[in-house]
This record gives sequence, C-alpha cells and structure tokens, in this order.
Amino acid sequence: MTLTLTTAGESHGPALVAIVTGLPAGLVLDRDAINSDLHRRQQGYGRSPRQQIETDEVEVLAGLRHGRTLGTPLALLVPNRDHKNWTWGMSPWPPEGEPTGKGTKPVTVPRPGHADLAGAMKYGHDDIRNALERASARHTAASVAAGAVARALLQVIGVEVGGSVVGGDDLETRVDEARRDRDTIGGVVEVRARGVPPGLGSYATKEARLDARLAAALMGIQAVKGVEIGDGFALAAMRGSEAHDEIVPGLHRETNRAGGIEAGVSNGEEIVVRAAMKPLPTLMRPLQTVDLATGEPAEALVERSDTAAVEALAVVAEAAVAFELARAAREKFGGDAIGDFAAAHTAYLERIDWTPR
Ligand SMILES: Cc1cc2nc3c(=O)[nH]c(=O)nc-3n(C[C@H](O)[C@H](O)[C@H](O)COP(=O)(O)O)c2cc1C
Repeated sequence: MTLTLTTAGESHGPALVAIVTGLPAGLVLDRDAINSDLHRRQQGYGRSPRQQIETDEVEVLAGLRHGRTLGTPLALLVPNRDHKNWTWGMSPWPPEGEPTGKGTKPVTVPRPGHADLAGAMKYGHDDIRNALERASARHTAASVAAGAVARALLQVIGVEVGGSVVGGDDLETRVDEARRDRDTIGGVVEVRARGVPPGLGSYATKEARLDARLAAALMGIQAVKGVEIGDGFALAAMRGSEAHDEIVPGLHRETNRAGGIEAGVSNGEEIVVRAAMKPLPTLMRPLQTVDLATGEPAEALVERSDTAAVEALAVVAEAAVAFELARAAREKFGGDAIGDFAAAHTAYLERIDWTPR
C-alpha cells in the first residue's frame, strides 16, 4: 500500500487539481484545516498582490463522503480566481471572439532563472507562456491541499509536522531593502516532524531511503537549491566523535545531529530537514536576456511577482514532508480502513516497546 499524488493545473488556468490515491477509508478530513493551510501558503511578508486576488479554498470532487474518505481516489480542486482575467488568454479550447484580458500576446522574452528558455526549447513553444504557466509555483497550492490530507493521516498515528523560516527575525527589513532596490531575496526553511516512529523508510534500496525521499520531495519545490538533513553540511567539518548521536538507556539520544534518520530509516528522534531557496528570479529591475523572436538583446519581462516567498516555502515544504512521511507510513502500516492502519501502528509500537518523547 502506498500513497500517490498527481497534480495538474496552470497558474492562470481555470483551476489546480490534486488526485491522491492510497488513502484508507474512514479518515476524517476537515475542510477548515485544508483551507487554513492554503491560506497560510498565501501569507508572508514580501508576496505580490496576486495573493489578494486569490483566496484559495478547496473543493472535493471525489473520494470523500460526509467528511470521511472512501478509500477511493481523492480528487481535490482549487479554483484560480484570477482566471476570470485570463479567460481568452488561457482558454483550454481555441478562444472565440476578439482577444481580451490578459495573456493575449505571445511571450518571446525568456526570464533568466525561470523555466522560460529551456521550456520553450524543450517543448517547441513559440509562446513562452506555454512553459511558464505550469513551471510557476502557483500549483504548490494543490500540493499544500494534498499535504493537509497527509497531515490528517499522520495525526492518527501521533505525528505532527511543522515548518518555519530559519533566521526570519529580520525578514521584514530584508524584504523592504530588497524591494527598495527592486530586487528579490531567498532564504532557508526548516521542517520538523515529531512522533515519527523508528522504522519509516529503509536502507534496503536507495529509492526506499527516507532521507533520499525527503530530499527529492523538497527539491521538487520551485526555487529549492539545497537540502540538508539534521546538521547536514556542518557534519562534514566535524570529527566522528562529535558528529554522532550516542544511544542512551530507553534507546533515546541526547543529541539529534542526524535529524532523526540513520541509514535511510527514521530512528525515533525528531525529523529535522532544511531547504535553501534561491532569490526569486523575476526582478523589478530586469535582468538581461534575448528576445527569441528577433535574436536581439532585451530586458526580461517584469510580471507581477513576489519579493520574497520564503514564508510560503515553509508551508509548501511542510506539506511536502508531511506527504512523504504519510507515504512511508502507509507502506509500513497498510490497512484498507483507518482503524486497520492505526491498529498496525499500535501493534508495532508494542513490539518495539517504543513511546514518543
Ligand atoms: C511559494 C513560491 C512562490 C514563488 N513565487 C515566485 C514569484 O513570485 N516570482 C518568481 O520569480 N519566482 C517565484 N518562485 C520561484 C519560481 O517558481 C522558480 O524559481 C522558477 O519556477 C524556476 O525554478 P527553479 O528555481 O526551481 O529552477 C516561487 C517559488 C515558491 C516555492
């Protein structure tokens, strides 16, 4: 039994869609909890006015009845409220009538740091919009909705996941300074998961390693350029005697430099992962580029854009980690009904005689 997530949706298309398979039947979902995560993703100092246009709210199309999962594919939909301004430009079918609204003119000037140039070349697009609409981080809303579902599943086995910005105390100042300079910033986020039992993931294959899976989940988010587990890069400069977490009676650790994972398997300590975000590539002071229509030097397009999105990344990263941990938990505990899943978890904890701290 495993959990899968497929998302679809363009930034200014009609809606974003997430389909989750592999959920047990009988899991209680709370609409407000999903919407609360969607709203948290839209918050943060330094976001663009787009966030005022979009007030994301989830709709459920399948897999849920009276607030409980049916054990069938769960289909979630988040409408793009901004689509009303793009109905001609983003019409799925050949548009009728005169061009009106946004997105009517082909984009031919690729923005450095975006999917624009490579995407246009790879897929043979004359209009770069055909690449940038999906490459945009807008569809992380669908992942966050799925992450909220994963979080509900994890709560059944006592696992709590939370994300935050690392060194965020002076974020407002740094955003203000960057905005004044018509520039952008990145940042680092940290996600912690408490209550994860020992034994999620495996050393058996590289695909099964929990550290590899969490790294892939975080690297799968736009603008993430580095991931570390536990003390990560700092471990490289330590001696072995300082770097490892000694085991004490009760089979716990006094330190957690490994970030809760050894040999690709959760070890019962808190899972700690960090992701580094590059500065956002759309600048109000445009970077140099080339117009693909003329071959002449040009300035990159200035679309409405965030100055910083690191607080949003904390929410998106939290959802990604929650989904991956839920997937590993489904593999370990299985069960078609939520009670079977919970009972397998309880029986396993009894066998290994482990209680979370
Ligand atoms: C939550 C979130 C919001 C983002 N908002 C913007 C934005 O407003 N402007 C921008 O240029 N990039 C933004 N990005 C980053 C781009 O989507 C990303 O850099 C781009 O798609 C290229 O992908 P890459 O950075 O992974 O190579 C955002 C990323 C995230 C995770």
